[in-house]
Amino acid sequence: MGLRNTPRRYGSLAMLFHWVLAIAVIFMLGFGIAMENMAPDGRLLGLNQFAAYQLHKSVGFTILVLAVLRLVWRWINPVPPLPENLKAWERWAARLTHVALYLLLIAMPVVGWIMVSASPWQIPTVLYGVVELPHLTGPNEQLEGAMIRLHATLGFVFIALLVLHVVGAAKHHFVLKDDTLKRMLPGTQV
Ligand code: HEM
Repeated sequence: MGLRNTPRRYGSLAMLFHWVLAIAVIFMLGFGIAMENMAPDGRLLGLNQFAAYQLHKSVGFTILVLAVLRLVWRWINPVPPLPENLKAWERWAARLTHVALYLLLIAMPVVGWIMVSASPWQIPTVLYGVVELPHLTGPNEQLEGAMIRLHATLGFVFIALLVLHVVGAAKHHFVLKDDTLKRMLPGTQV
């Protein structure tokens, strides 16, 4: 299997982006909700509240970088077309879901970044304990409140769209019995 996409299947780099981002986003959605609900002196995966927030912010920023790289790669290396057997509404549903998922991959980290930047606490974000992320704004409680609400709402939209995306992939594989899922799976013949 080559690095680049072909008209029949995704290449190894597109697959790597897809599966690394899928695992990271699923982790972040669960971890974000658990972190939001943890007691100030509680522990999450053995981390105290400060360390848990730092990990969330570090992985979130990594997702932003990977999403931008993935979009650049998609732009210079077009993806295989959707299968012929799809009805017009299915084609639109698939495209809309994909565009919305890309938008969320960018919007979630950016909104989170603005949120922590606008916080009156001005807590530094140190990515993986190494590099400090600059703040995008100064303290602004109103902006912080709006970003907290947006981050939470987008999180639930993300979960709903991921469910739709997985149901779509399962329908292709088990009902329509086409190669849509297989062409994104490493080590399969298409
Ligand atoms: C794709 C990336 C991300 C995902 C999927 C994600 C997901 C979530 C979720 C589901 C929550 C819980 C929301 C709630 O139930 O109220 C949350 C909370 C939070 N996230 Fe993210 N997040 C991402 C990136 C980021 C980034 C990059 C930052 C900061 C640089 C960040 C900062 C925060 C903070 C500070 C909270 C707690 C908000 C509060 O105290 O109310 N997130 N995130």
